[in-house]
Amino acid sequence: MSAELIAEIRAADLFLISTPMYNFTVPAVLKSWIDYMVRPGFTFSLAPGWPGMLENKKARLIVVSRDSYIPGEPSEAADLVTPVLRKVLDFMGIHDVDVVRAGSSLAANLGKVRIDDHLAKYEADVAALAKV
Ligand SMILES: Cc1cc2nc3c(=O)[nH]c(=O)nc-3n(C[C@H](O)[C@H](O)[C@H](O)COP(=O)(O)O)c2cc1C
Repeated sequence: MSAELIAEIRAADLFLISTPMYNFTVPAVLKSWIDYMVRPGFTFSLAPGWPGMLENKKARLIVVSRDSYIPGEPSEAADLVTPVLRKVLDFMGIHDVDVVRAGSSLAANLGKVRIDDHLAKYEADVAALAKV
């Protein structure tokens, strides 16, 4: 399983992780993917400094949540998805990482905001992610 997942990522130059936030962190299935991916001798080296072994790759992240976790504001501290993904990718040698945090879906779920209007807020950011 681990070897197959690592082979998949080795074959890609660019990959997209699109995930919901569950209880401030990544869903268990994404954590499981991380645990299969971060592997000595495959994605990071045991040489001094533990250098990452995945080179020349880019990652794009879309993190979706009910509440807003705004960069630079106190709410950002409760977003444990983005820092974990950034750290893990960096550890494996992937430093070119862009993130869109698509938060605040609650108002749309309650019908207070039209879903199209909610999604429209993130269209430009997601389109910018695609320009690599
Ligand atoms: C088990 C579970 C835990 C969740 N925990 C959080 C959370 O900690 N913070 C948050 O903002 N949203 C949380 N959510 C909301 C999800 O992030 C949200 O449902 C998901 O991004 C999809 O958006 P949608 O429900 O508007 O389609 C949680 C949802 C579930 C099912």
